[in-house]
Amino acid sequence: MRAQADEAHSDLRAALEHLLAAGGKRVRPTLGLLVGNMLGAPLEKLVTLGAAVELLHTATLVHDDLIDGALLRRGMPTLNARWSPPATVLTGDFLFARAAKLAADTDHLPLMKLFSETLATIVNGELTQMFTSRGLINRENYDKRIYAKTASLFEMTSRAAAMVSPADETVIESMRCFGYEIGVAFQIVDDILDFTGDQNAVGKPLGSDLLNGLVTLPAIYYAEANPEDPDVLSLPNGGWTNNENMTRLVENIRATDAPKRAMNEAEGHIESALASLDSMPSCAERDALENLAKYIVDRKV
Ligand code: IPE
Ligand code: IPE
Ligand code: MG
Ligand code: MG
Repeated sequence: MRAQADEAHSDLRAALEHLLAAGGKRVRPTLGLLVGNMLGAPLEKLVTLGAAVELLHTATLVHDDLIDGALLRRGMPTLNARWSPPATVLTGDFLFARAAKLAADTDHLPLMKLFSETLATIVNGELTQMFTSRGLINRENYDKRIYAKTASLFEMTSRAAAMVSPADETVIESMRCFGYEIGVAFQIVDDILDFTGDQNAVGKPLGSDLLNGLVTLPAIYYAEANPEDPDVLSLPNGGWTNNENMTRLVENIRATDAPKRAMNEAEGHIESALASLDSMPSCAERDALENLAKYIVDRKV
C-alpha cells in the first residue's frame, strides 16, 4: 500500500503515510487472507487483493470524512481537518486509482469486475444516504444502506479470495455469504458504538449519526417502542437538525434496551456467518475466521 505513492507528489506521499501510520483494524485484508489461505489460493494474489481492498476502504474514508465533516479518524486528525476540500478529494481519487491498479495486478478479470461493481455500490449507497435517507425511520432503507456502505465490501473481499483459489462454486458462495453476514454485523455494531462506545477507544467522533440525520438500528428499535416520543416524531420533518433535541434522544436511546436488541441482531448474523464455515476443512485459518466473526461483535474499537 505504501509503495502506491512512491512516484507521486511529496504531499500525496505524506498523506498516504499519515493515513497508513494511523493503522486501522485492517479487518478486510485479514478476512481475504484467511479465506484465501484456507482454500489454497496463491499468497501473492491474496496480498495484492488485500492491499487493493484496504486502499479502496481508505479512499472511501478520506471522502467520507470530508462529506461528514469529521475531524478525527483512527485517533488522528483527518486529511480534511488539515487540507482544503479540493486537496482531500484529489487524494481520495488518487487512492481509488491505485486501488484499481492493485485489483488489476491480480490478473483476474472477474475479480476486477466485482471490485468496480462494489465501488459503484458503495458510492451509490452514500449518495442515496445523502439525498433520500436523512431522518427516515425505515427498516428496509437501513438494511439497504448498511449493505451498500459496508457489507458489500466484506462480501466482495471474501468472495474474491475464494475466486482466486481452486475452490468450486458452492464454496465460493459459502464464502460470499460469510463475508456478507460479518459485514452486516460489522456495520450494526458500528452503529451501536455510535451510541454506547468510548470515543477514545473508537478514535472517531461518536454520537453523531442522529445529528447527521442517520437513523440506525438502535434508533429504529427505540422508535418502534416509543412511537409517540416527540423527538422521534420530529425526525422525518428535519428534527435531526436540532442539536439539543438529538442529544436528548441519544441519551434516551442509550437508557433503553434498544442498543442491546440491536446487538442481538448482530449476533444473529454472526451465527449465520459461522454456519457457512461448517463445511470448511478444520484448519488454523478456519479457527481464525471463527474468531474474527466473534471479534466483530465483541469489539470496542
Ligand atoms: C469504518 O471502518 C467505516 C465503516 C464501514 C464502519 P473500520 O471500522 O473498518 O475502520 P478502520 O479501518 O478500522 O479504521
Ligand atoms: C463509512 O460511513 C464510509 C463508507 C463505508 C463509505 P460512516 O460515515 O457511516 O462511517 P464512520 O462512522 O465515519 O466510520
Ligand atoms: Mg463518516
Ligand atoms: Mg458517512
